[in-house]
Amino acid sequence: MKVLVTGGAGFIGSAVCRHLVGEAGAQVVNLDVLTYAASPAALASIQEAQGYVFERVDLRDRAGVNRVITEHRPDAILHLAAETHVDRGIDRPADFISTNIEGTFNLLDAALAYWEGLPAERQERFRFHHVSTDEVFGSLGAEGLFSESSPYAPNSPYAASKAASDHLAAAWHRTYGLPVLISNCSNNYGPYQFPEKLIPLMIVKALSGEALPVYGRGANVRDWLYVADHARALYHILTKGRPGQTYNVGGNCERRNIDLVRRLCALLDDRRPRADGASYGELITFVADRPGHDARYAIDASKVKSELGWMPQESFETGLAKTLDWYLANEVWWRPILESRYDGQRLGLRRGTA
Ligand code: NAD
Ligand code: TYD
Repeated sequence: MKVLVTGGAGFIGSAVCRHLVGEAGAQVVNLDVLTYAASPAALASIQEAQGYVFERVDLRDRAGVNRVITEHRPDAILHLAAETHVDRGIDRPADFISTNIEGTFNLLDAALAYWEGLPAERQERFRFHHVSTDEVFGSLGAEGLFSESSPYAPNSPYAASKAASDHLAAAWHRTYGLPVLISNCSNNYGPYQFPEKLIPLMIVKALSGEALPVYGRGANVRDWLYVADHARALYHILTKGRPGQTYNVGGNCERRNIDLVRRLCALLDDRRPRADGASYGELITFVADRPGHDARYAIDASKVKSELGWMPQESFETGLAKTLDWYLANEVWWRPILESRYDGQRLGLRRGTA
């Protein structure tokens, strides 16, 4: 099987490419424009592999997208490329609109033209898998879980742009018959996550002896999934999912932000004790809340488990420890990012010029 992966140089996309090439034995064409968030180093283990090809193309470049599809003639498209950081979307929403919405439109339309020209048997097997987030469903109260039938109620510019792209993908299935699959996943964590997101940011700041900024009172809840488990879920959905269906993916690991950061500090105290003997927990600082901060996300993943046989392999404890150990061993990966692309400053407090 030849899969066109978009955003394959990103955090989840690179885990997907490693899984497809390494474990599933698939051929991969990785379409990625390499924004600030991309990490080509995450692909080092497969870049020389037979059947792996990289195409530096912007999703917003329709001619470029057309060329890649018609030249490589994939059996499936796994669409992950996106602007993904909520706080950046608050400051500068324009790229979220153009990449997440217009870029997805370009890809869907190019895929449709290609699919319509395929012979019947290849048409039957072709899949377009659109990868999305649980943030499209908005915010939960203290009780309940997001299911596949939860109403869309996005709050942030990021979530709104992903919701729009989900609707486009569903419309291309209902209107034109393109065999579309959609998955909505909860928060991911693991190696190679750009240190703007909560878990890696707390680790790299703690190791630099800097304050650990917890938004509001840290009472917001996220439902965490180890990235390799998400990559396996995507492969299950791509190969076994039913066109026209949506699948929610999550690890059943709800944590309040403050509890997560405290746990991370305790792990750090154990693995890399501070020179002065103080706990990393003393670095925790409550800071101004995120505008429009969703209170709680939690996923009911029973459909992907019962219909497609997927199960996460990591618990939150094992996944968090693996992740921390990876960041401890790979300062050579994250230190240059802090020095050149993102120094850890607070983002998302106000709208700047788009
Ligand atoms: P990421 O920010 O780490 O990587 C995004 C990748 O997309 C980068 O390699 C970037 O270069 C590429 N890209 C961005 N704009 C592009 C464009 N215009 N053309 C081509 N490539 C472009 O993202 P991630 O965290 O790996 O998320 C991947 C997907 O999974 C996204 O669609 C996101 O909405 C979804 N998702 C993420 C999470 C999470 O917790 N990170 C959870 C659920 C769903
Ligand atoms: P984040 O990793 O940005 O993911 P998302 O907003 O997509 O869920 O944030 C996870 C949670 O952590 C969210 O509730 C915001 C909070 N947070 C902090 O408290 N401090 C931080 O420095 C960051 C980046 C996030």
